[in-house]
Amino acid sequence: MANENRSVWTSISFWRRSAAWVTGFAVILLIWLTFDTLGQISMGTDADLKNKVTKRVPAPTVINYHIDYKYNAKRGHEVPVIGDKQPFFGKEWSEEEAAKLLHLGKLTSQAKNCMDCHTLLGNGAYYAPDLTKAWLDPAWQNGGPLQGMTGKNTVEEAMAEFLQHPSQYPTHARMMPNLGITAEEAKGLVAFLKHMSSIDTNGFPRNFSQAAKREQGGTYAH
Ligand code: HEC
Repeated sequence: MANENRSVWTSISFWRRSAAWVTGFAVILLIWLTFDTLGQISMGTDADLKNKVTKRVPAPTVINYHIDYKYNAKRGHEVPVIGDKQPFFGKEWSEEEAAKLLHLGKLTSQAKNCMDCHTLLGNGAYYAPDLTKAWLDPAWQNGGPLQGMTGKNTVEEAMAEFLQHPSQYPTHARMMPNLGITAEEAKGLVAFLKHMSSIDTNGFPRNFSQAAKREQGGTYAH
């Protein structure tokens, strides 16, 4: 038969079958990747925190813990490390309270459009510093210039004070305008930023290194 000498590459049925297999394989791969991603980004629970189970996105009650940012040699960048309990605005927040506070912070960040100027988890603008790891900036920590400037002695109080009156504390050439943020909203925003800093973002943003900033004496360069 004439067909017998024809190369497989010119056979229509070969290409049809290949297309069906490739499409089928891609569908299965995408379904698997979707579930894998959902598993990776789903929020951990309070029990995970208590049992020291590391989740990429910890539960809202992570605001009750000290968060560190430590170099991981295997991964080649710093990763959030959840440490011991530490009061947040002077107390320990229950699961319900922490979730409510975080929710208020998220809504406020949307209502006041922080992303117009800042970047959060890769979304937003670069007019002002990236806020993804702002909580971990040594400038806010004990002995850092922002605690000194605001006259507060915890990270959360210094940040909340700054957010309510940013134009009183200019540190860069660019100044953050007063956005009419209330004391309660400021607490929510700080909880939102603290929680965000505890998310394992594979070392992003790359230009934020707590260790490098400490070496520079906790300067406030982003
Ligand atoms: C109109 C632009 C603009 C908007 C909107 C804005 N900011 Fe800022 N923000 C700035 C600028 C500019 C700075 C740098 C100010 C400085 O260093 O003095 C800044 C600084 C900050 C800092 C200190 C930087 C750091 O690395 O810790 C925090 C925290 C912050 N903003 C949080 C927020 C939050 C939360 C919102 C939303 C509620 C917000 N900003 C909305 C412009 C803005």
